[in-house]
Amino acid sequence: MTTTALGIPLFGTRGRAAESTGLDTGDAGERAARGSSPFLLDSHGRRAIDLRVSLTDKCNLRCTYCMPAEGLDWLPGQELLTDEELLRLIGIAVDRLGVSEIRFTGGEPLLRKGILVLVQEVSRLKARPEISLTTNGIGFARRAADFAAAGLDRVNISLDTLDRDVFARLTRRDRHSDVIAALDGAVAAGLTPVKINAVLLRGVNDHEAGDLLAFAVERGYHLRFIEQMPLDAGHEWNRASMVTADEIQESLSRRFALTPHREARAGAPAELFDVDGGPATVGIIASVTRPFCGDCDRTRLTADGQIRNCLFSQIETDLRAMLRGTGTDDEIADAWRMAMWRKLPGHGINDPSFLQPDRPMSAIGG
Ligand code: 5AD
Ligand code: SF4
Repeated sequence: MTTTALGIPLFGTRGRAAESTGLDTGDAGERAARGSSPFLLDSHGRRAIDLRVSLTDKCNLRCTYCMPAEGLDWLPGQELLTDEELLRLIGIAVDRLGVSEIRFTGGEPLLRKGILVLVQEVSRLKARPEISLTTNGIGFARRAADFAAAGLDRVNISLDTLDRDVFARLTRRDRHSDVIAALDGAVAAGLTPVKINAVLLRGVNDHEAGDLLAFAVERGYHLRFIEQMPLDAGHEWNRASMVTADEIQESLSRRFALTPHREARAGAPAELFDVDGGPATVGIIASVTRPFCGDCDRTRLTADGQIRNCLFSQIETDLRAMLRGTGTDDEIADAWRMAMWRKLPGHGINDPSFLQPDRPMSAIGG
């Protein structure tokens, strides 16, 4: 664990940075530099409008690039934000901080009991944000229509392989057909365009890039490949075994004509290509080899109420302590603004001094 000069842990699920234990609204100089904007600005000129809310760190799969077979030490129940606490923070983000997109993530967000009510409540906010979900798809098929009715706008379903055996090896669970059913269910519920996230691992599923794209094109799914990032619980990521965006593009180009898509959305990390002249597209998210930090518009809330201004941040801001203490909405909004103001210009994965965050992806939210 990283510690400050005073030996105060910068991260730990139970002990946190001095900065994060209470109200930290910055010193006068920092506040003057920031100005009085209500939005989530940072000192490098970016504004966060996209809030990723992790609803649980638990998961019913065990993807090898994410979790060990035996799972992890899950966050204790009393440390998780309650539905009321979550809704209060999301309300603050939307009403006071200018957040316009809410994405529910995990772990696996469908494991959270109240998720449907959360979607419904968020959809009732006056400045209604776009609401989306990133899920592994297990159990989604039979709930897709309920989610659509509750106000869900879009869904990203993770699918790394078309081969049931590879799926079982990669996720350590024999649930491939559940994910395929989830894709069908999402389309039937009108949650289109359905997006698929795929991570390729060398020697495991990297031969499937073309097959995955053919499958997606045929069924009208929007496929995005994501470079594997150093966010695994075992800290085993290594650059040499990562399948790079260039390799993915090369592999796809053997079967499809890829041409850069005209209009990429600002802040969107995927490099988007038209497939065989369109209208089908494919995205490649080169988080490691071509970082897009300069366009990042995200702010993250962990299931235990910590704000992270970056996936790779070493520092968190503890809004749960404020929620459970005497923090007013104004004070919480201010602490959130300062947390974002301090966002670093980039994730630094490519610096020799890069330190992988202690929290794995499953406890941050994708
Ligand atoms: N690198 C890239 N993507 C990852 N995901 C999980 N761990 C990693 C990682 N280390 C993906 C999952 C899912 C989404 C939540 O993030 O495959 O699609
Ligand atoms: Fe679960 Fe997602 Fe991690 Fe796979 S990558 S184990 S689906 S949290």
